[in-house]
Amino acid sequence: MNIRMIGYGRLAKALASQWVKTHRVMVSSPSQIHACLENGIETRNCNLKDLEDADVIILAVKPAKLTEVMIELSAVIPKDTLIISLAAGVTLAHLKNICPTHLPIIRAMPNINAQVQASATLLLKDNPLSQKHMQIVETLFLSLGSIDWALNDDALDIGTILAGSGPAYVFYLMEALQQSAMHLGMSEDLAKKLIVQTFLGSAKLAHEKDICFQDFIAQVASPQGTTAAALEVMKSQEIPKSLDKAIQAAWQRILSLRA
Ligand SMILES: NC(=O)c1ccc[n+]([C@@H]2O[C@H](COP(=O)([O-])OP(=O)(O)OC[C@H]3O[C@@H](n4cnc5c(N)ncnc54)[C@H](OP(=O)(O)O)[C@@H]3O)[C@@H](O)[C@H]2O)c1
Repeated sequence: MNIRMIGYGRLAKALASQWVKTHRVMVSSPSQIHACLENGIETRNCNLKDLEDADVIILAVKPAKLTEVMIELSAVIPKDTLIISLAAGVTLAHLKNICPTHLPIIRAMPNINAQVQASATLLLKDNPLSQKHMQIVETLFLSLGSIDWALNDDALDIGTILAGSGPAYVFYLMEALQQSAMHLGMSEDLAKKLIVQTFLGSAKLAHEKDICFQDFIAQVASPQGTTAAALEVMKSQEIPKSLDKAIQAAWQRILSLRA
């Protein structure tokens, strides 16, 4: 498949690093001033180059740049080319407003875990996709991890703050736990190893056993034990309330991106 990416920043690089193993990937962004080959990825010095060869065009620019980019590309994109927008908070209705009517367009929200084929990707379409386009979407995103379809823009945007941004929250918690272990005298490397394996193992357990999170907590926290002591402090510090405030802040940011 020929994949043309417009914008080649943090998320695009994570996706391209996987797609390039089995597909032809062509990218462009303003800092790409020479056409060259980098790790198998073909860079172009202009957004308009090689659009006609593309089976799919991935819009990987910041939401504020999207309209400008679509205006630039509109006249050149061949009819029936599938467009996939990764932009947070930009609704399908807005995308359809800025996109020529003959172009099928969907939203996708993968995350940087795509680099290890462990993305949780949420997708949104409003009209049924042709069989050919559905196959493109499934081939692309199943190669990066799991896929789910959202019912509407709200669901896609909640998925964005949960799973699109999610890896950053997880790494933030990991770093805080690592600091605590180091305060108690553990080496940085060993703390990292134990924390990573614990997150990996907990995710695997939750993935494989259909039990609610509270029941998993109860399996670890015996009364008056060490886990209970830690959980008591977490409760008294109202950690869930802080996390809720953080998610609300992300939601407000998403709403501000909506046109
Ligand atoms: N990073 C994530 O994990 C994540 C999570 C959720 C959603 N997203 C969404 O993914 C999209 C990209 O985010 P990002 O974090 O990857 O952003 P980023 O690292 O800032 O990358 C944006 C890219 O867009 C390029 N660009 C700017 N103007 C352009 C133009 N006129 N034509 C072509 N390319 C242009 C930039 O090029 P130069 O560097 O050359 O200026 C850069 O390569 C955003 O819409 C964001 O909402 C990202």
